[in-house]
Amino acid sequence: MNVFRHKKSLNQWVRQGKARGMRLGFVPTMGALHAGHLELAGRALKENDLVVCSIFVNPIQFNKAEDLEKYPRSLEADLRQLEDIGCDAVFCPDTREMYPEKDARVFDFGHLDKVMEGRYREGHFNGVAIVVDRLFRITEPDKAYFGEKDFQQLQIIRAMVRMEGHPVEIVGCPTVREPDGLALSSRNARLTKAQRQEAPGIYQALKKAREMFPATDTKEIIHAVTKQINASPELELEYFEIVKARDLLPATRAHANEKVMGCIAVHAGDVRLIDNLSLNS
Ligand code: PAF
Repeated sequence: MNVFRHKKSLNQWVRQGKARGMRLGFVPTMGALHAGHLELAGRALKENDLVVCSIFVNPIQFNKAEDLEKYPRSLEADLRQLEDIGCDAVFCPDTREMYPEKDARVFDFGHLDKVMEGRYREGHFNGVAIVVDRLFRITEPDKAYFGEKDFQQLQIIRAMVRMEGHPVEIVGCPTVREPDGLALSSRNARLTKAQRQEAPGIYQALKKAREMFPATDTKEIIHAVTKQINASPELELEYFEIVKARDLLPATRAHANEKVMGCIAVHAGDVRLIDNLSLNS
């Protein structure tokens, strides 16, 4: 497996592969890899001739310095896992390599980055869009793979790709869960035993919402989910919203004939967990 720290050398390698007619799949990550990431890379390996994963903890998508500091890092173990599954190349630049100069661009995503995560994490999606745009320019992928757990991120990236005209197909992949339903996340490693025991309650609440929709009014569903999450001594709801998948605007029963998502963010102590579930597919 080739490990690149510099964008120029990675881009040369990519172009050599493409000159030989190879199709390139790309999986961007911030490391601390778990089975969800490996699922993305596995799918990329099936659908492409060459696969590049990136590992870069992107400072400009963190709105709190302490979150950036606490973000789990395990480069050696990550590289071993990617090598084991047959990944062709890994790009792990440092911050200076990714941002030799400040990137002050501001994307206009309309309401897409103002709702849900955007409301609680100012500037987060602009930082994600900037780094993914930069990574696409370096890796020039035919297909790029993202988890549906970050559903809003996926929609933002699709919008950025349209705006920038990147010739890449964005592939959204289903959320990978623990047997008890907890969505895999690098942050799960920071949960205490008690928090970990209660955390599957997030998925339970989403499933309850799915049972209730569309027979029950969405306001009532939101009330029921809020009550269920906050009944746990370890969990505190930040938001639960029922939105149209297409534009992330609030959905009601009247939208039951298009894809409707329940999106949730919960605090377990100082760990913030997000999840989502389609309520009608
Ligand atoms: O989902 C993530 O891990 C990150 O937001 C991404 C897409 C790698 C950009 O830093």
